[in-house]
Amino acid sequence: MTLTGIKKHLRVLEAAELVTTEKVGRVRHCRLGPSRLDRETTWIEEYRQMLEARLDRLVEGLRQRTPVVARQAARVAAGAFAKLLLREFGTEIASHTIQIGHLRLDHPANWEEILAACADLDSPLRCVDRKLQEKMMAEVDAALKAGDTVGGVFEIVVHNVPVGLGSHAQWDEKLDGKLAQALMSVQAVKAVEIGSGILAAGSYGSEVQDEISYDKGAKKFRRSTNRAGGLEGGISNGEDLLIRGFLKPISTLRRGLVTADMVTKEPVQAAYERSDWCVVPAGGVAGEAMVALVLADAFLQKFGGDSLAEMRRNFEGYGKQIDNF
Ligand SMILES: Cc1cc2nc3c(=O)[nH]c(=O)nc-3n(C[C@H](O)[C@H](O)[C@H](O)COP(=O)(O)O)c2cc1C
Repeated sequence: MTLTGIKKHLRVLEAAELVTTEKVGRVRHCRLGPSRLDRETTWIEEYRQMLEARLDRLVEGLRQRTPVVARQAARVAAGAFAKLLLREFGTEIASHTIQIGHLRLDHPANWEEILAACADLDSPLRCVDRKLQEKMMAEVDAALKAGDTVGGVFEIVVHNVPVGLGSHAQWDEKLDGKLAQALMSVQAVKAVEIGSGILAAGSYGSEVQDEISYDKGAKKFRRSTNRAGGLEGGISNGEDLLIRGFLKPISTLRRGLVTADMVTKEPVQAAYERSDWCVVPAGGVAGEAMVALVLADAFLQKFGGDSLAEMRRNFEGYGKQIDNF
């Protein structure tokens, strides 16, 4: 390597605080300082242990399940990495069940309630209303007994989202469009709603728009309500993202539907091997992963760089620019 090449490499290592240089007369003493990497090493080790444990559970789950579930599991695994990236910037994602069959949660849930439902291992449907959850579980049991299946709605909430992700400029850059496509790709999801989209379609503008104010303390523009679900014009507006996935009931019924024989083309009773009968909470987990992947991509587009440190610098610079607006 040439002397100039060595100097260039040293400058990069100095900038990364991995090497310190001291000049004594005409001699330059370079000292390696690996302690700069301690923080990253600890971070990697913590996540390595956590991810190894999760991957072991995933592999175990995959051994027992169908190809549909295996594909969901692969997305959930990829989404876990996207969630880790988002968490570095304070953005968190959670999902909860708001409808099973004809039973629906009749009030909006706040972030703390959703986190509590997610943390509660005795809450199999992750519904924030315990009494309603009991009724929902009875509905699921009734479907099982009748050899039937039942659908429902999960809601994904993304908390602490920076303003300005996505774009209004190109149809395929709109963040709401990307999220809808990603959620529709989850098996059995037949509709996606952002904010109060469905209600809004049957209302007057004065009833469903969010009024804007400026919070001087937080240096943020706020909405008095969040009917837009945190997305306006294809761009995040700083409020929580609210996205709902509507799941049809699973098509494989234990009591079997009428179908056509592939060879004789005659009507026959569909065969039954095994099947889920309500996948709403599982659909929510798959949905979280899809939302995480789309958002991680949007973060990379806006704040990207060659390293997390560079991305963090861009993110913080952007935050200062927004504060000074
Ligand atoms: C978490 C999850 C689990 C599923 N498990 C089953 C199942 O056990 N049996 C089945 O027939 N379909 C299962 N499905 C898939 C849907 O029934 C299937 O995708 C659908 O019938 C095809 O419709 P689509 O075009 O909406 O995907 C599952 C879907 C999800 C999200």
